[in-house]
Amino acid sequence: MKRLTVPRIRSRKVDGVTEEPLVMLTAYTARQAQLLDAHCDLLLVGDSLGQVIYGLPSTIPVTLDMMANHGAAVVRGSYHSVVVVDMPFGSYESSPQLAFESAAHLLKETGAAAVKLEGGEAMAETVAFLNQRGIPVMGHIGLTPQAVNVLGGYMARGRSDSEADKIVSDAKALDEAGAFAVVVEGVVEPIAIAVTEAISCPTIGIGASAKCDGQVLVTDDMLGMFDRVPRFVKKYDDIAGMIEKTVQTYAEEVRDRSFPGPEQTYQPKK
Ligand code: KIV
Ligand code: NA
Repeated sequence: MKRLTVPRIRSRKVDGVTEEPLVMLTAYTARQAQLLDAHCDLLLVGDSLGQVIYGLPSTIPVTLDMMANHGAAVVRGSYHSVVVVDMPFGSYESSPQLAFESAAHLLKETGAAAVKLEGGEAMAETVAFLNQRGIPVMGHIGLTPQAVNVLGGYMARGRSDSEADKIVSDAKALDEAGAFAVVVEGVVEPIAIAVTEAISCPTIGIGASAKCDGQVLVTDDMLGMFDRVPRFVKKYDDIAGMIEKTVQTYAEEVRDRSFPGPEQTYQPKK
């Protein structure tokens, strides 16, 4: 299987219609990427790795090095999906030039095909700057976790008319700037649909609408690795429960000396 390309992802939406929704999940490690790759169109090395992998309180402290290291692992572990790496907070907002330097560093270190950054109209110039210089950009609007200190929390967006209008104009600005897709996170459904209808590139929903052109979730959330997840996460399994049960069995066997057994023990040749 040859790796998908950004233009092929972009062209899945034709004249406002996406027949087969785009499938995206987060991946942070090579093994995780190997397991997800064949089932996805896109793998996102999300800065959610701050909380999921590093136990940080938000995505704010995530560094370019963290993104580069995990991005490289995910590219090594995949051969089919387009790999998109999140630009961490502080690595792109202040100027298109800074954004290009950070994004180029990420692509060179990882071999990923594209970056994702948060923000709408304020980032449109940067999106165009990168795109014109060889770096495809995925946008991210609505509930943008890097702006938690401005938004005041992780609640759904677009409930007021002014917020709804802003989300739609942000989406249009990114689309016109050449974003190849836009993540729409934590947005009331009618606004997610309005955005999907208003822009020519695919929308990828998370806590948005089944009518978006694709969906994304944090893999560890949907696998049931955590007790507390946002309402928009569907827990497809209980991997945390499986791990706990398995580790309990191991601990019991070590304590009663039934592990290692004869099968796991070397003996000298007779
Ligand atoms: O960091 C992340 O995982 C993301 C997705 C939730 C869209 O940005
Ligand atoms: Na992110």
